[in-house]
Formats: sequence, C-alpha cells, structure tokens
Amino acid sequence: MQRVEWTNDLEIGIPVIDAQHQRIVEYINTLASMQDDIDSDTVAKLIDSLVDYTFSHFAFEESLMEEAGYEYLSIHQGTHEAFTRQITVLHSQFKAGQDVSKDLGKLLLTWLIDHIQSDDQSYAPLVREKFSLIEKKSDGNWLGNTLKKFFS
Ligand SMILES: [Fe+2]
Repeated sequence: MQRVEWTNDLEIGIPVIDAQHQRIVEYINTLASMQDDIDSDTVAKLIDSLVDYTFSHFAFEESLMEEAGYEYLSIHQGTHEAFTRQITVLHSQFKAGQDVSKDLGKLLLTWLIDHIQSDDQSYAPLVREKFSLIEKKSDGNWLGNTLKKFFS
C-alpha cells in the first residue's frame, strides 16, 4: 500500500478540516507501514478507527457546509454517501476475514487526492468567508459544539 505525503496542495485553508484530513493521512500511513506485520487484531482496530473517523469527518464537514449555506451541499453529500457505501462494503469484507486493507487504502487515497483537491476546494472559499460569522452567531461555540457532537 502506498503512503501519502502531505503537501500544501492538499490544504484547503480551513484549519479544522485540514487537521482532520491530515489525521486521515496519518491513519493511511500507519496502515501502509503495517502491511508486513500482520497482527490482525491491531490492523482490525486501526481499520475500525479509520472508518469511524472518516464518517465523523464527513458528518462534520457537511454540517459546516450547511451552516455556511453552501449551495452544492446535496451534491457533496452524494459524493460522501458513495464513498461511505464503498468503505462500508470493504469494512464488512474485512470483518468477514478478507484482506482488504490494500483496497481500503487505495480507496481512501483516491478520495483524498481527488475529493480534497476538487470537491473540498470548491466549498472552501465560502466556508472561509462565513466562518467567523458562524462562530459569532453562536457566541463562539459552534466549532467546539459541533466537534463534540461528531467526535465524542
Ligand atoms: Fe468532502
């Protein structure tokens, strides 16, 4: 499995989202480094966490786009749903004993490169513009509360 090098062109300029994307990259790289050391229990735990974290990230991102009034939210949600379906299939196959870590890594890699650089980049300017307004409207609690809601 291929490692991902975090580069500036993967940044969308929204620190909380960039940090989550970086965390997913770390998961992928940890998975990549575990390829030869087949402790299935550790790999299973890592894949569970990776899948769980990715879903929380999607939910958080959708909430942020909704709050900012992003007009292509439903299209973006559709992309997340398509990924979710594919990840869920691979996750079930993994739990049934198949070695899908390579496929899972490849899928997430595609998602990272393509999805971040196109879909995520396209909502970024609006969210960057509205972010302080969103925080102000909620007395500075929106970010903290929403993170707690999806990443507890
Ligand atoms: Fe996204």
